[in-house]
Amino acid sequence: MPDFTIGASDFLLDGRPFQIISGALHYFRVHPDCWADRIEKARQMGLNTIETYVPWNLHSPRPGEFDTTGILDLGRFLREVAEAGMYAIVRPGPYICAELDNGGLPPWLLRTEGLGVRRFEPQYMAAVTAYLQSVLEIVRPLQIDQGGPVVLVQVENEYGAFGDDQTYLKALAEVIRGAGTTVPLVTVDQPTDEMLSAGGLDGVLRTGSFGSRAEARLETLRKHQPTGPLMCMEFWDGWFDYWGGRHHTTSAADAAAELDALLAAGASVNIYMFHGGTNFGLTSGANDKGVYRATITSYDYDAPLDEAGHPTEKYFAFRDVISRYAQVPSSVPAAAPAAPEFNVALGEPVGLLGCSSGRWSDHRSVPALDELDARLAIFRTELRHGGPALLTFGEVRDRVQVFLDGAPVGILERERHERSLMLPHTRGRLELVVEDMGRVNYGPRIGEEKGLIGPVLLGADELHDWSVCGIDLDQPPRLWQSTPSAVVPGPTAWRATFEAERSDLFLRTDAWGKGYAWINGFNLGRYWRRGPQQTLYVPGPLLVDGTNELVVLELETLSPTASFAAEPWLGYTDL
Ligand code: GLA
Repeated sequence: MPDFTIGASDFLLDGRPFQIISGALHYFRVHPDCWADRIEKARQMGLNTIETYVPWNLHSPRPGEFDTTGILDLGRFLREVAEAGMYAIVRPGPYICAELDNGGLPPWLLRTEGLGVRRFEPQYMAAVTAYLQSVLEIVRPLQIDQGGPVVLVQVENEYGAFGDDQTYLKALAEVIRGAGTTVPLVTVDQPTDEMLSAGGLDGVLRTGSFGSRAEARLETLRKHQPTGPLMCMEFWDGWFDYWGGRHHTTSAADAAAELDALLAAGASVNIYMFHGGTNFGLTSGANDKGVYRATITSYDYDAPLDEAGHPTEKYFAFRDVISRYAQVPSSVPAAAPAAPEFNVALGEPVGLLGCSSGRWSDHRSVPALDELDARLAIFRTELRHGGPALLTFGEVRDRVQVFLDGAPVGILERERHERSLMLPHTRGRLELVVEDMGRVNYGPRIGEEKGLIGPVLLGADELHDWSVCGIDLDQPPRLWQSTPSAVVPGPTAWRATFEAERSDLFLRTDAWGKGYAWINGFNLGRYWRRGPQQTLYVPGPLLVDGTNELVVLELETLSPTASFAAEPWLGYTDL
């Protein structure tokens, strides 16, 4: 069997120096029937390795579960990497950041009383141990010394940016080793002295994450990793976008020059991302460094392979650079074909506000969304006062739409730190549509509760006696038994069927407000007219040759037509 070790200055593959030229590709962000295609394109760009995170929250949506079906089939993904003749790096966290909801930590776990997040605390360690053992049961037989592709396993993720609990890091490494991991372990940190000191662990190779100034960064890394190979575990070649921001792009020439500098220095590299893919469903995270910013659905990342798996200018620029250091296959992927353009009329909508079916429950005070196990919910109470009054929330996480007797009164958003609005009168039905737009994935706010935090006040008095309906967004709304209505204010569900072939589509959302869309029961993700993105990517394998179903849950208002575009529109970039 081949072996992979850490030498005095290089990685050694069967005793010979080996430069890892890797690209990040998250299996959970790409339809499984597209994995082989994306991996092959990585090989054609000259990469020899594929890196992936493992998302604990997606594998374990509920305690005790470990789902490895469909898009979560890590074993199949790694076998497909091996079939392409490539190596693999696995980064199982338990925390992964990755612009993923909650940084990949399961929200149910973080609700445990007294739990210590990302530190050595018994309840947290017990859950982490069980999780890592499940992951490594898949990875263990796929390590290189057992005939598989896996050459490295990462411990935690940029831990030095969060904490300095060496006992925790050490215990994680022991759990990973104890589960039969024989390949070398690594940590990653941003290349500052503080972070590399706090996040590194003796006996585990330190690597860095950065996108520029390679020489200086490698020098800092070298101070903390005096021997062994130098590796940039995350060479940031683009960036992610947030709702309300611009679409981030970087120059292909500049990124290629940075890659060149890394490879010329003899460093190993993992390009973050090679292919970003999509934050399908409700998987996208958020940042909050004083201002809440929710990550968008597309994870295109301005990566060499775009969201739909097509090569960009950066792909060819990187391929040229790599060809100076390694053998690059002569074949290249074809350019993107245009997707079919067509319009479909949506049927009559069904209003959610007036609806009485669904998971309703009664509460004295407003519950957190977490308590309801919902990401979107309707809160309803009866007001028996009279004149105008101020409605105030402790904190809005992340958005609330306010309705009086079915008429819209206003919207409050966390991003703007909004907490109160004036009700023009206070007699009748008060309804609140409360939305969680993505859990924070970086920094101290990981794991926080969602929804209306603190009591809801009318003037100085708390409002009591709420009926609450959590809306399941994993499935398209099941409201087709209800009588369709003319357009009504508030959330509405729409449906259409259309004829198509099994090829990629781009669903336009620019004539819609804010909501979610499903194709044949699969949640494509969030859309919002604020942008930057104004199309949702529909991977071809979600479609059937023949009749397909589109369902849209719109929170505000939409034009009653679904339009499909020839190309994606990810928004305006910096001029
Ligand atoms: C860090 C994290 C990654 C990702 C990038 C930004 O490097 O380790 O998970 O969040 O930032 O895309």
